Amino acid sequence: MKAVIPAAGFGTRFLPATKSQPKEMLPVYDKPTIQYVVEEAVASGIDDILIITGRGKRSIEDHFDKSVELEVTLENSDKYDRLKQVRDITGLADICYVRQKDQRGLGDAISCAEKHVGDDAFAVLLGDSITKGPKPCTKQLMEVYEKYDSSVISLEAVAQDKIERYGIIDGTQVEPNIYQINQLVEKPPANEAPSNLAIMGRYVLTSDIFDKLDETEAGVGGEIQLTDALSKLDSIYGFTFEGKTYDIGNRFEWLKTSIEFAMDDEESKNDLIRFMKSYVD
Ligand code: G1P
Repeated sequence: MKAVIPAAGFGTRFLPATKSQPKEMLPVYDKPTIQYVVEEAVASGIDDILIITGRGKRSIEDHFDKSVELEVTLENSDKYDRLKQVRDITGLADICYVRQKDQRGLGDAISCAEKHVGDDAFAVLLGDSITKGPKPCTKQLMEVYEKYDSSVISLEAVAQDKIERYGIIDGTQVEPNIYQINQLVEKPPANEAPSNLAIMGRYVLTSDIFDKLDETEAGVGGEIQLTDALSKLDSIYGFTFEGKTYDIGNRFEWLKTSIEFAMDDEESKNDLIRFMKSYVD
């Protein structure tokens, strides 16, 4: 299976940090967000990745490219750990790029993948969200796709005040954690939402989504919404996967995620606790 990572949005929720750098390149603790996303695809067994970029996103390509001067410098100064780290990034996967010409929304960005993907089902991982769990989220979705032979998306229950940030579904539970979806609505007001189950940025889609995208008109925010095309599919399932999603496009979520990931690092954990305590006390 191939993976598509849309990374073409402006990042307006995170200005001024994203004025001249892609939001997907903002580091979460010590790595750019999009590196976590590529690593999730690779850990799910995918080695063919298409990143949908746009103008001003060239640093994403540079990040996954070889960095000759840096490698020579690290080698000459015997910094072999760092050298390995840098080389590992380049060897992660075969990554291709295509540019979305106009910012016409997530649905339009996914349409740009049609030629690369062809007729097979493919995974979509939003470039501004990270997942953590005992098994990669995308791998979990791939297993549900194989069982139901239908498109499947990741879901998480969200608090009432966050509903309007997400695509929301209405579904019939068919087994623990799996829903057959009846309806999808992009960013509804909380009082009109069919549930509190939100689309969390990981999808495995059958290729008929491309025809549905062609038929989809601009929706919320004047953009071609992937959610609207998903609701045209004959069959689609939702999965409350085992794990958690971090939405990095939002600055407070980004900050909390950086702290949480630093706490996962034994080298930083105690220093961080001391530092935070000095603020709280
Ligand atoms: C996109 C999708 C939305 C989904 C969200 C997850 O919205 O359109 O359905 O719930 O990602 O992060 P965006 O965050 O790009 O506005």
